[in-house]
Amino acid sequence: MRAVDIIMKKRDNLELSKEEIDFLIDGYTKGNIEDYQMSAFTMAVYFNGMTDLESTYLALAMLNSGDVLDLSKIKGIKVDKHSTGGVGDKTSLVVAPVVASLGIKFAKMSGRGLGHTGGTLDKLESIPGYNISLKEEEFIEQVNDIGIALIGQTQDLAPADKKLYALRDVTATVESIPLIASSIMSKKLASGADVICLDVKVGSGAFMKNVKDATKLAKLMVQIGKNCNKKMTAVLTNMDEPLGNAVGNALEVIEAINTLNGNGPKDFTLLCERIASELILDSGLVDNLEDAKRLFNQQIENRKGLKTLAKLVHAQNGDESYIFNPSLFKKAKYVYEIKSNVKGYVNHINALEIGNAAMMLGAGRAKLSDKIDHTVGIVLAKKVGDKVNVGDVIATIHSNIENVDNVIDMIIKAYLINDIEVKPSLILDVIKEN
Ligand code: URA
Repeated sequence: MRAVDIIMKKRDNLELSKEEIDFLIDGYTKGNIEDYQMSAFTMAVYFNGMTDLESTYLALAMLNSGDVLDLSKIKGIKVDKHSTGGVGDKTSLVVAPVVASLGIKFAKMSGRGLGHTGGTLDKLESIPGYNISLKEEEFIEQVNDIGIALIGQTQDLAPADKKLYALRDVTATVESIPLIASSIMSKKLASGADVICLDVKVGSGAFMKNVKDATKLAKLMVQIGKNCNKKMTAVLTNMDEPLGNAVGNALEVIEAINTLNGNGPKDFTLLCERIASELILDSGLVDNLEDAKRLFNQQIENRKGLKTLAKLVHAQNGDESYIFNPSLFKKAKYVYEIKSNVKGYVNHINALEIGNAAMMLGAGRAKLSDKIDHTVGIVLAKKVGDKVNVGDVIATIHSNIENVDNVIDMIIKAYLINDIEVKPSLILDVIKEN
């Protein structure tokens, strides 16, 4: 087999076989196929796309390029969730402990934040002592013991995806739906869960800018998962404003704790309820969505979700007293209020701009090696649909930098306030079939 023949076939829009895709990915991972050939291949995929079967083979080839977690030693159904990346998205910190508190095993590997989007690991590391690196045996033992573990992705998880993603980044081929779907699913499949819920974000702060493309991506990922015998759900959610109120690591953990105490922001609580309920339903604990939602709300009311988060933090060496007393979290030096100089209704909050503003404060990274400041961020006081009067606080900035004029400008520009009264819509669709 020769790489050039495979590239030619994709250039001519013909369907590749599993053997051809395996040959390409294996050769590329081992360094036998050069970047220039892989660049030509990804560009051919960008223009001609891939069939569902080709995308599944690509995901599997990347998954098999490295470690695959064997979760068979964990008793019971294992579930996982994944978000395509949003601003203020701390859903895993609520969904995972609530679902685990019902006896469903939550074995999760997460990533770090990059650019305007945050990462679950960075949020967890704002809890003093929290250890994100467990060995595979420790990870499995902890899930068997307390039903939940939340760690960083192992170095050798889907290495072909790492190499290919870096290449796509510099060859203008990131925005290809089959390449995104197989990239995300290679990592999700490698982490070994039986039931997976994907949160596909749509809007200004997301990879997918419109519902049509997000639906295509969601359906393809659901199909790849199903081809690999996973129970799949994809929830399409609006990223035309940040999720919840808090953006920034410790601030988001505090918001997740408030939500587990029943005092979370409405939009964020609703999304957690839906994602958790889909996982509860697909695990077979109940046979309809309403019962699943009832269980979610029960675990919030009886604080069992909160107690499970504390157990998780304790098991991974963190100080669990922070979970019961969030006032312990270290605070930023300065808090600035931003007041509105117009009246009307909030129509839109550019999530990308808010994410970038939080990054400028030090809450996120421009590159993976950057250090972050866990204490800083932005708390939105007004959200889409809210009425605003002149002088009302629309957001607060938590900063360790004294001069934040540029951040204030960015936040003011991110808010679109006018006379039109709008209703926010968060959950746009739920997809279980291709
Ligand atoms: N996230 C991924 O993991 N891969 C992509 O290709 C895009 C987003």
